[in-house]
Amino acid sequence: SLPVGNVQWLAASGDLSELPERYVRPEINAEPVLDHEEDGKIPVIDLSMLLHVHHSDEEMMKLGLACQEWGFFQLINHGVPEEVIERMKYEIQGFFQLPLEEKKVYAQQPGSIEGYGQVFVVSEEQKLDWGDMYFLATQPLFARNMELWPSNPLAFITGILMKSMAKSLGVEILADMFRDGLQSVRMNYYPPCPHASKVLGLSPHSDAVGLTLLLQVNQIQGLQIKKNGGWMPIKPLPGAFIVNIGDILEILSNGKYKSIEHRAVINPKNERMSIAAFHNPRFDVPIGPIPELMGESEELYKTICSLDYMKLITSSKLEGKNILDQMKL
Ligand code: SIN
Ligand code: FE2
Repeated sequence: SLPVGNVQWLAASGDLSELPERYVRPEINAEPVLDHEEDGKIPVIDLSMLLHVHHSDEEMMKLGLACQEWGFFQLINHGVPEEVIERMKYEIQGFFQLPLEEKKVYAQQPGSIEGYGQVFVVSEEQKLDWGDMYFLATQPLFARNMELWPSNPLAFITGILMKSMAKSLGVEILADMFRDGLQSVRMNYYPPCPHASKVLGLSPHSDAVGLTLLLQVNQIQGLQIKKNGGWMPIKPLPGAFIVNIGDILEILSNGKYKSIEHRAVINPKNERMSIAAFHNPRFDVPIGPIPELMGESEELYKTICSLDYMKLITSSKLEGKNILDQMKL
């Protein structure tokens, strides 16, 4: 991706009476913002119930429906201790509070998406998001360097979810595909902006990965998901993870599970932070509808090797479902 200015610095540097043109997003209010109460709440899945000796089937059905109809759900009783989550939030807030010079030590290097900076910027004309990121590959290569992120609890959670999803789809092999898969973590920092209604913290997109676990670091809301032609704000339950289906799961399930577009809006007064942990199948898994799942149904997506899929991602900007569209048959 191309190097772009640091947004935290821009936001702090004073006179924003003139918002730089590249951050102005006229389309932001083109679609209505929905009412969270009126248009239904995103499903809540209880991880401890998925492990329950007697009642796991009910929860598994609920999970399957959530993946098909919403592509998003909140995960409660996930077993990650509150201290671990609080410690992680504290460390990450601390990172973004460091002076710019110190954060620059972790800056992205040319040609890499890892480190502190922005990703998805592929042209000089492209509109820019109002936020900075810190992106790290955590599994399998750098697992030992990531002391701040409890990668094992997350791998455990993902493992249980994938097993239940596999069961609900009737294809056991799906869980195997994610065993010892790839994980990466992206921390998002969105400074406040006096022109909050004109900028976007993160452009509308669906996640190009398998499964995402998302944690809201502070109490400032900003995540919205596309629903019925509008944008529905998500109100996270205390301590819950927000989980969403990514493009790869939509492809593997031949469209049964939905990868839903979402975006981040900006608060005029308060900074906002979030942490996304992305989970992908192992590298040897071809990206395409699982043959065992197909039966008589028509194949909706092509099958390519994961390396070609990676190339597709790194050459595309973050915009709607553009990765999925390129995979459509
Ligand atoms: C994301 O889509 O990766 C982040 C959304 C958010 O900041 O809540
Ligand atoms: Fe996302």
